[in-house]
Amino acid sequence: MSEREPIAQDTAKGPPETDPRLEGEKHPVARMIAIGVIASLVGIAITLLIDWFPTSASGAAGDIDTLYDVLLICSVPVFVLVMTIAIYSVVRFRAKPGDMGDGPPIHGNTRLEVIWVTIPFIMVTALAIYGWIVLNDIEAKAQDQMVVNVTGQQFTWTFEYPRQNVNSNELVLPVDRPIEFKIKTKDVLHSFWVPEFRLKSDAVPGLTTIIRLEPDRVGRYEVVCAELCGLGHSTMRQFVRVLPADDFDGWVEKQRQEGEGGAPAGESGEGEGGGGGAAADGEQIFTAQGCGSCHTLAAAGASGTVGPDLGKLENTDEAFVRESIVDPSAEVEQGFPDGVMPADFGDKLSPEELDALVKYLLESQE
Ligand code: CUA
Repeated sequence: MSEREPIAQDTAKGPPETDPRLEGEKHPVARMIAIGVIASLVGIAITLLIDWFPTSASGAAGDIDTLYDVLLICSVPVFVLVMTIAIYSVVRFRAKPGDMGDGPPIHGNTRLEVIWVTIPFIMVTALAIYGWIVLNDIEAKAQDQMVVNVTGQQFTWTFEYPRQNVNSNELVLPVDRPIEFKIKTKDVLHSFWVPEFRLKSDAVPGLTTIIRLEPDRVGRYEVVCAELCGLGHSTMRQFVRVLPADDFDGWVEKQRQEGEGGAPAGESGEGEGGGGGAAADGEQIFTAQGCGSCHTLAAAGASGTVGPDLGKLENTDEAFVRESIVDPSAEVEQGFPDGVMPADFGDKLSPEELDALVKYLLESQE
């Protein structure tokens, strides 16, 4: 009790409005707001000067970039104002050494509290409505849209064009045509993302997620996995090529011919596990299973670096190559991590496909 006495005397002496720390400072709040406003304007100017976005290559990109700009313009003043008041208060009202006294008793300020609840509430609600309108616009179903089934698996993307009856490891799209991506995963969470298109969607086990967009710029962009999905996550990158409509039709035609020529007998060539047949093409299996996203193999034009270079095998014993595919942990090459390569290729591949793949790998040694 004795420690508290001097404080009680302090408050009793002076009227509470004249805190000695505020003497000579007539309008600290006005000054803080002035500093905050100036800092906010500088912050907004810097924000707008920075080029945040990559090239835009889809119809939705413009709306999304504008939404981002609006969010930044609204967030900067809030951040700057709060930080200005906080830093100003820390410096200006710092307790003097040895001052163990309580601050002046304040019971709150209803007007201030109403202001700092109402303004953020209006801002957040308005931004949420704006964001919802933009998203709704983008996700609207379009006439004449082309469906592309996207499948993620550790660590590759595969693309299926059901109407065109084409499967591909590369995403190829016609320009100025609405696309509906139906996204799935064979194993864990992945996230399908083309930064130039702006849209991104998780591939969730057991679900099919959908994004719709219309590529509006011819070019080659990266397809990125944006969800940490295992050790090979950073290598889960492929390309999307946006082509003029005629070139796209040409590509589809070429894929079909290759598909029919390379795969075993026409109709049965679509199935993955069930297919196969005597003439199973090792290179096609290598590509379709996404081996190239982790392994280098010059013969297949693959340059992955997560696993060993398969064109330079030290042990070219057939049984060893087979075992390494079916049971990758049996013998792990030095310098490479264990447990990265999926252990289920023995189930995924038919015996014929496995034979073809082993044969292909042995033939592809440099
Ligand atoms: Cu798939 Cu990260």
